[in-house]
Amino acid sequence: MDSKELKNKILRLKEEKNAVILAHYYQIDDIQEIADIRGDSLALAIEAKKLSAEIIVFCGVKFMAETAKVLCPDRKVLIPEIDSVCPLADMATRKEVLKKKEELGNPTIVSYVNTNVDVKTVSDICCTSANAVNVVKSIEEKRVLFVPDRNLGSYVKEQVPEKEVILWDGYCPVHEEYSVEDLGKLRKEHYNAKVAVHPESPKKIRDMADFIGSTSGIINYVNKTNAKEFIIGTEEGILYELKLNNPGKIFYIIGSKSVCTNMKKITLESLYRALKDEIYEIKLDEKTIELAEKPIERMVSIKRT
Ligand code: 13P
Ligand code: SF4
Repeated sequence: MDSKELKNKILRLKEEKNAVILAHYYQIDDIQEIADIRGDSLALAIEAKKLSAEIIVFCGVKFMAETAKVLCPDRKVLIPEIDSVCPLADMATRKEVLKKKEELGNPTIVSYVNTNVDVKTVSDICCTSANAVNVVKSIEEKRVLFVPDRNLGSYVKEQVPEKEVILWDGYCPVHEEYSVEDLGKLRKEHYNAKVAVHPESPKKIRDMADFIGSTSGIINYVNKTNAKEFIIGTEEGILYELKLNNPGKIFYIIGSKSVCTNMKKITLESLYRALKDEIYEIKLDEKTIELAEKPIERMVSIKRT
């Protein structure tokens, strides 16, 4: 079946089954094109909550689909590839977080939404890269354990110096790879270009940027900035939305492998299969939903930075 045929079948099935397709900006272009809603992790969580569809097909990584399930427990939430996971999320387990919390004398646990749901069940509040700074500012307690991304955590620490932010030692393998040499070379070659990077990038990269923000933050920055060229420090899937909104602008991605292989596992074929066979369903027990709901609801109530 060619991709046009597949897309038509997906759209038909979606109508028949009263389903909605959510896609993160890191998905392949074909998936982003066919999605009902594209967005960053915060927008997709907020949108999922508002939907009335019976089935939510989440094209992203597993923690995102789990978050949608916690927010919409009465809906069937599907992820087309069950092993589309986030290696950063796997860098902290519930047991490790509880151990660290005890060792540190009970700090407030702020967990990045890029955590598995069992970590959320022991968190006080969650955040995404779009609202992490405001989330930490919103906390009354002074000491915070920020789990699991050390780069986003160190960015928050810089922005909220009044708090004691203790960092977990996790990182995103995609953003961690960016080198000063690669970015320096791009800046030399395109000296008029503005540099916009995701806060999962290491400090040495953030320090070279004109703008630091989540995927939607980067998109908004590019949309409103009057420059012709941009150097982008995040996963290359973002180019779909950037080019759609800014046909006259030119983009360069830092490094040669800014690809999240887990995000790219979802294909038109697997999306079609997901809708047809209603797989893979995210199933969470009642207790997990009850415990994870509070930190996630707190997260979605806090505005973007
Ligand atoms: P956003 O919060 O910007 O959607 O990013 C999610 C993510 O996984 C970044 O690597
Ligand atoms: Fe996880 Fe990094 Fe992929 Fe985002 S880009 S989903 S943080 S591995």
